Amino acid sequence: MQSAIEARAVGQRARSGQDTLRDVSLAIGHGELVGIIGSSGSGKTTLLDILSGLRAPSAGTVIRASGNVGYVPQDDIIHLALPLERTLRYAAALREVPPAAVGSVLSTLELTDRSLIPVGDLSGGERKRASIAVELLAAPTLFFLDEPTSGLDPARGAELMGTLRALAGNGTTVVLTTHNPLDAARCDTIVVLTGDGCLAFCGTPDAALGYFGVNTLEEVYERLRERRDEKPWRWGDGHIRSGEKGLGRAEPAAGAAPERATRGAATGALRPLRQWLLLTRRNAAILTRARLTLAILVGAPVMVLLMFVVLFRPGAFDPAHPSPETTVMIVFWLAFGGFFFGLTYGLLQICAEFGVLRRERFAGLSAAAYVLSKVAVLLPLLAVVDAAFLVVLRVLGRLPEAGDYGATFVTLLLSSAAALALGLLISAAVSEPSQATIALPMVSFPQVLFVGAILPVPVMAAVGRWISYLMTNRWTFEGLGHSLGVARLWATGASPLGPPLLASYGTTFARPAGEDWLILVAFTLAFLAATVFAVIRKTGSAVKAGSAAKTGLAVQAGRQAG
Ligand SMILES: Nc1ncnc2c1ncn2[C@@H]1O[C@H](COP(=O)(O)OP(=O)(O)OP(=O)(O)O)[C@@H](O)[C@H]1O
Ligand SMILES: [Mg+2]
Repeated sequence: MQSAIEARAVGQRARSGQDTLRDVSLAIGHGELVGIIGSSGSGKTTLLDILSGLRAPSAGTVIRASGNVGYVPQDDIIHLALPLERTLRYAAALREVPPAAVGSVLSTLELTDRSLIPVGDLSGGERKRASIAVELLAAPTLFFLDEPTSGLDPARGAELMGTLRALAGNGTTVVLTTHNPLDAARCDTIVVLTGDGCLAFCGTPDAALGYFGVNTLEEVYERLRERRDEKPWRWGDGHIRSGEKGLGRAEPAAGAAPERATRGAATGALRPLRQWLLLTRRNAAILTRARLTLAILVGAPVMVLLMFVVLFRPGAFDPAHPSPETTVMIVFWLAFGGFFFGLTYGLLQICAEFGVLRRERFAGLSAAAYVLSKVAVLLPLLAVVDAAFLVVLRVLGRLPEAGDYGATFVTLLLSSAAALALGLLISAAVSEPSQATIALPMVSFPQVLFVGAILPVPVMAAVGRWISYLMTNRWTFEGLGHSLGVARLWATGASPLGPPLLASYGTTFARPAGEDWLILVAFTLAFLAATVFAVIRKTGSAVKAGSAAKTGLAVQAGRQAG
């Protein structure tokens, strides 16, 4: 294959049905520095996404040479909490690049003296370069950047263009979008898009000046504006002019199979496991740095625990004078505590970092490794919270002296695990954090109403009873009641309220806790599987990038046959 990237009749149609890119054909040679220009909204980012394989086109085909693909998005989507060098070390490990690459990339982008500063504290321009550094680690052969120089001062912008120029000199094909005519002038090839997403020109900057009949590239924008009403876009002789390296010249060699753009190292069965360990370490590092977040995660349960202590009198489980209504409420709110904190811990985890996640999925991150690394860091935290609930309430006399606390802890932790998995699922399914926040009451209310504590299951309406089966909290509530000996307590009949209360709850607490555990584990696994599925769906287009290139030829062949 002679060209590094070839687009044939590529088009993109938005969900609304509007065409954002129309019939774009171009060829980009190996080691070229290519600038895509055009007015705002002309489809530059769309074209970049399609050329890189981040998005599949809705029409046409793209063929890419094999090798590592790097994509630097316009927003600096990169974890902000850790120091720059540490962030890059994790990024290198995730891309299976030796740690030595970090030092050289830092010096290439002149960031060596910023190594120890948290990414979030870097200046805008430094963060931009950090974002570029992440992708440079894997030494991409095809490198795509969306407006890399925006937000940089002219000198820094020129320096960055110089760095990209040098990369291209070393054989990397670099494609970028820009609003800056000076950047475009530094490119080997410029791709000019019209306001409505058609290709106006593809060739050298010098050829562009002649083609548009202008003296500077700034004036190209004016020309595009003047002719914006002419559709479809055709200049003079009716053909889009191309430079020497341009369109139609580089037909792929016969039989040259388009290859999937893969990241460096081989894919092994151990790879997801390595990624899981790595991400778990990174999550833990981020969490310990985000002191305020950690304080809220731990502080919120402490507040709730205090409320319980203030609300409930001690001695409700006293076998001599039990208070059945209190025992039910203590068991229920204990169950709800385990559920609620699991849910809230999970709820904002994924939706708050879709950008980084997409980027890392594009770099080859396994969705399961990602989801399970969240569980690995948050579940131990929940175990501490659950244990603290039991210990404090027991010590302060709000829980029975005789009770199977081992089983009680297991039930509560499994309840938290199921809720955490549910929170992660919601977080992966919504498109932004505000939606996840709205989901919190929607998910929590039924887990109060249909659990069988406030209204016992035996006296629920039929539909309510069916719904109660789906509530993880129901199984926690019943399991906790069993292990804490609620049924036994009421059977003593010491309280005049005991027998009737027990009667309305029926056999609620009779089931061995082990059965409730199985149900909670099944819920957890189902929620986790659904979360992985949702993550793949949300970030799938990135992973499909290579296969889109593959199906390319099939489509082409189909057309020729037809
Ligand atoms: N879902 C959608 N429905 C309709 N139009 C859409 C949709 N998504 C994107 N577009 C349009 O597609 C066009 C191209 O968007 P794109 O982000 O590629 O532009 P751009 O050239 O990168 O612009 P900018 O220079 O501002 O970054 C825009 O006009 C945008 O409004
Ligand atoms: Mg854009």
